[in-house]
Amino acid sequence: MLSSLPFYPAWWSDNCYKVLDQLALPSVVREIECHSADDIFLVIQKMEIRGAPLIGVAASAAFAFALRDMGTVTPDRVAEFVLSFSKARPTAVNLYAVLNYMENAMSGDIAAGQSPSLLFAKAQDISVKLHRADRERNRKMGEYGADYFSTLFDKKISILTHCNTGSLATAGYGTALGVIRSLFERDMIEMVWVDETRPYLQGARLTAWELEQEGIPYTIITDSTAAWLMKLGRVDAVIVGADRMAKNGDFANKIGSYGLAVAAQWHKIPFMTALPVETIDISIDSGESIPIEQRDSSELLSCGGSLIAPSQAEGLHIGFDVVPANLLSAIITEKGVLYEQINAERVVDLYHRSPSTADGVHNK
Ligand code: MRU
Repeated sequence: MLSSLPFYPAWWSDNCYKVLDQLALPSVVREIECHSADDIFLVIQKMEIRGAPLIGVAASAAFAFALRDMGTVTPDRVAEFVLSFSKARPTAVNLYAVLNYMENAMSGDIAAGQSPSLLFAKAQDISVKLHRADRERNRKMGEYGADYFSTLFDKKISILTHCNTGSLATAGYGTALGVIRSLFERDMIEMVWVDETRPYLQGARLTAWELEQEGIPYTIITDSTAAWLMKLGRVDAVIVGADRMAKNGDFANKIGSYGLAVAAQWHKIPFMTALPVETIDISIDSGESIPIEQRDSSELLSCGGSLIAPSQAEGLHIGFDVVPANLLSAIITEKGVLYEQINAERVVDLYHRSPSTADGVHNK
């Protein structure tokens, strides 16, 4: 157990970037120290940190290290770094979005030929701010999401979630799990059904760990139990995160999300996603263009280090699926909630909306 809440999954400690090792959780709470962009690349690739917004903010730290360590810093070298680092994981657009943001934010200083140590200090400062901003936007998302739920339900609800979208998947608080936290603060949670989320068990290991620490009632289920619980009338709503949303509202999320959306529609249960607008990729028209990560099948043929299939067995490990927008009841963001007609015009409008004119659950 951590001694204090809230905990953060990644933070700057002087010139070292520290992360919680998410492969060790929940049995061991361990920090990993990253001292270079390569260290951060590795913790992302090995899934020691994961979750779209967290991968994004961690990339800002990697960018700072890269400026410090690349020798002569030129715009071409920086562009090369951005291209190669963005290959750490392909589906979450946040990684690309933050790297591009850092490149733009630092372009003047880079062009001015400032020293690597000064560039590092400036980039580190921006990185710290991005971590803080992510927590703030998640809080807003939580409030808007809870406001929206209040328009749908006037009782405590049982809500089902998939994978981990909490403090561990972001810089803090979470997206879909942030909405659940806000609902709990308003005494609106009866039960959180936590999909175990094969094969990495982000639900059973990480979401359950987060809920446990805050005393939020939860029950872990196998992924294949979800549809049956809906049939039994024990699920009021489903909420998941997103790794990349196309401008028509189709979105990629952890494998299993599509099946949940289909089952929710069949049982007439609201199915929603919560995401920062950074996760919307307005350069692509539909979910067909989202790159889907395929990981090594060995990850699903063993569990806890033991083989669970014949040693010669083939496996297929697709990391994400795409939920079509027409299965989605609402998109919850830090700029407001979109529901009913979800289409490209309205998603793009939401993306560009200025935070000062964010209008909560108003469905304009
Ligand atoms: O493979 P992961 O664990 O990085 O997948 C994470 C998810 O699919 C999350 O639902 C998504 O990143 C949203 S996190 C706020």
